[in-house]
Amino acid sequence: VQAEKGGYDSFMLKEIHEQPQAVRDTMGARIDENNKRVILPELKMSDVELATYDRIYIVACGTSMHAGLVGKDVIEKWTRVPVEVAVASEFRYRDPIYTDKTLMIVISQSGETADTLAALREAKKSNVKVLAITNVVGSSVAREADEVIFTWAGPEVAVASTKAYTSQVVALYLFSLYLAQVKGTMAAVEIAEVVEHLSEIPGKIASMLENDDQIRRFAEGTKEVSSLFFIGRSLDYAVSLEGSLKLKEISYIHSEAYPAGELKHGTLALIEDNVPVVALATQPDIYEKTVSNIVEVKARGAHVLGFATEGNHDLAKSVDEVIYMPATLPMLTPILTVIPLQLLAYYASVARGLDVDKPRNLAKSVTVE
Ligand code: AGP
Repeated sequence: VQAEKGGYDSFMLKEIHEQPQAVRDTMGARIDENNKRVILPELKMSDVELATYDRIYIVACGTSMHAGLVGKDVIEKWTRVPVEVAVASEFRYRDPIYTDKTLMIVISQSGETADTLAALREAKKSNVKVLAITNVVGSSVAREADEVIFTWAGPEVAVASTKAYTSQVVALYLFSLYLAQVKGTMAAVEIAEVVEHLSEIPGKIASMLENDDQIRRFAEGTKEVSSLFFIGRSLDYAVSLEGSLKLKEISYIHSEAYPAGELKHGTLALIEDNVPVVALATQPDIYEKTVSNIVEVKARGAHVLGFATEGNHDLAKSVDEVIYMPATLPMLTPILTVIPLQLLAYYASVARGLDVDKPRNLAKSVTVE
């Protein structure tokens, strides 16, 4: 087992460090470098058919569902197709509204999650086309879906999902761009710009992994903490949910993620002296709004770790410390922001002497309902 961990203390840390490669492999041959556009040769349906879909459900569990939340914002922004994200255990017992122009996307690392598989089967019974994003070739989800886009993250062993998430997010970027191409909702130059930035993502993840001292120190400081909050707006909120799940899952610290603007509707009552708050402020269009929420938690005594984009000299004025994300397009930041959040959960778990790879009460894949 020690050998399989490739010199790392745990599978989770190894898998965190495999992300530049996992992301690169998932982009792989799907990016046409010469023409700066996306190609998805694995899709069996025609572009004409794909272009007809005018409504999308994304169905998944846990971390895969969180990848779906990023996918929703991206698909809606780039293709103007409305997307609803649902937890599979809820969705399978709903009476969803389908039309012949509804596409369902299921996301599952393992391809064996019972609720996700059940939701897929329900949709197929209603003759809805199902596209799967999964990491396991030959899995039930891969076999039963009409269409599959594989993530090429390699085997993920740690219960806490890391490289599968970033690879799923990449697969969703690629799908969204492809859909934008066939629907004609983005100009070729806009697509080229995104593709350009996407190719730089693996290198940026690698540089973040090399510089993890600051998040490590912050994580080690959470040893006695009983509760930690994550706040952010739009895509920052989607990533906050993932950071919070990761932390709960392996460090057992109680945590919640909130849309920053929602705090004053209840959660603000929980903020008192020295409560740690991780505040994500990477989205330029709502940056000022997020800062005003940060000021509110600071005024109640919170200790705030802010996440800002490199070159932002403003956030430091309102928080206790700042972690800077390499600059990229706002729509692509989730894939970078999640890295220090994974490391936060990892180092907090290690500081408490817990079993990082096998947290209590949890299984890697949930094959029973
Ligand atoms: C995340 O760290 C989890 N262990 C969990 O939420 C997981 O993402 C979920 O069970 C879904 O698994 P799947 O992707 O294999 O379907």
